[in-house]
Formats: sequence, structure tokens, C-alpha cells
Amino acid sequence: MKNGIDIGAWEDFPDKEIVRVEVGGTVLGVCRWGELIYAFRNACPHQGAPLCSGFMQQNVSAEMVAGDVSMLTREEVPVVLCPWHRWEFNLEDGSAAWPGFKMRTYRATRESGRVLLHFGRK
Ligand code: FES
Repeated sequence: MKNGIDIGAWEDFPDKEIVRVEVGGTVLGVCRWGELIYAFRNACPHQGAPLCSGFMQQNVSAEMVAGDVSMLTREEVPVVLCPWHRWEFNLEDGSAAWPGFKMRTYRATRESGRVLLHFGRK
């Protein structure tokens, strides 16, 4: 028996696209980033925008280093951009640049060509 809820074939989730999935009344966004796959609740923690209508990009964040602002690019950590105010949420852990606002994430895995969703805490 598989450990997780089967939400579709790997091919059902095109690379770098957010796919809207409903599981037991909960609407989620599921998205691939190459060989990685992520899942998150379809509600922005800021004002509730449908995050499935946002889009993915690599994490580009500004960081103040000794009074100098530099842009950091972290290809390996994608983010989802909220469609309303463009806040970025890290797809690994749901974190944002603003303390107290965290997107709810879920663990998704690939097993035997299928995508499984795990509702337990990450
Ligand atoms: S509702 Fe998502 S950033 Fe404001």
C-alpha cells in the first residue's frame, strides 16, 4: 500500500506550471521544478488570494550586506508569486520575506511514476 494520496501521474504536472488539485475538499497547488515536486494550500497567508493563479520562478531576493543591496539568485529554491501583491513564498517551507506570513505547504513525492500527497506536517 502506498503511503500517501495518489493525485495523478508525473506527466500530469508539467514542469514549472501550477496545477490546481482538490483533495478531500482542500484545494492545493501542485507544481514541478525539474525533478522536484511541491504542494501548497491555495490561499495566500496575506489576504487569501488564490495562489494557484500565481506563478513560479527561481528565488531572486535582495539582501542587505554591509549597507550594500545585492540580488541573490538561488536556482535550487523556487518560489510561488502571489497574483495579488507579488509576495514570494518559498516552495520548500512556505516562508516569505515578511515574518508571520507563511504559506502552508505539504510534502509531495514521486513513486513509480505517480505523484503522492502527504498531509502530515513537513
Ligand atoms: S494576498 Fe497574497 S500577497 Fe497579498
